[in-house]
Amino acid sequence: MKDQPVIILNYKTYVESTGAKGRVLTRMAHEAMKEKGVRIIVCPQTPDLYLQKDSGIEVFAQHVDPIEPGSHTGHVLPLALVEAGVSGSLINHSEDRMPADKIKKCVELCRQHKLTTVVCAESIEKVKEVAAFKPDYIAIEPPELIGSGIPVSKADPDIVKNSVRAVQAIDPSIIVLCGAGISKGEDVRAALELGTAGVLLASGVVKAKDPKKAILDLMSLI
Ligand code: G3P
Repeated sequence: MKDQPVIILNYKTYVESTGAKGRVLTRMAHEAMKEKGVRIIVCPQTPDLYLQKDSGIEVFAQHVDPIEPGSHTGHVLPLALVEAGVSGSLINHSEDRMPADKIKKCVELCRQHKLTTVVCAESIEKVKEVAAFKPDYIAIEPPELIGSGIPVSKADPDIVKNSVRAVQAIDPSIIVLCGAGISKGEDVRAALELGTAGVLLASGVVKAKDPKKAILDLMSLI
């Protein structure tokens, strides 16, 4: 399951993916998954996670904190994600960076709670650094391409290829994804051909006129 092609859809904090609208988006993702048989995971905002419970689709958080139960007002406890029916989390997204020691602790705590970890990295150096923490996935995302509509898998194939190579040399059980500017089936195809197991994306679906059509297109060449 871990190395099968996957599309991870980050809802970020767009109006189009908040609250009830996010539920509609998740329903579309679920339908597309059933139609095409392609694995898709959605990442709603933390307050919306309970709304997505029992949606029939895998749900990951956008963020988790490296904390144990106790007095940590405003933080996201790994155990609380489990209770909310969430099965994994993004960590260190470009819009929500964390120092390395906190990334490491998040990965360890998530592992204890059987939460899948997707650690984001902006460079090959960062990919190598976080690979040492042994997350389930590493997503290489050059920040300058995020939200640009220019797909990393076509605009910067070397960073994707070199990330895959670097991770394989450190721990071949870690799966590499890529993200930034992905919006079409051919972008996903290119990502797979570069040795990743899929993509992490947001605006290409969330801001699309017809999000269901956009998801089906993403799945079309897998
Ligand atoms: O987490 C996904 C991401 O940062 C890429 O965003 O809008 O370029 O698909 P986008």
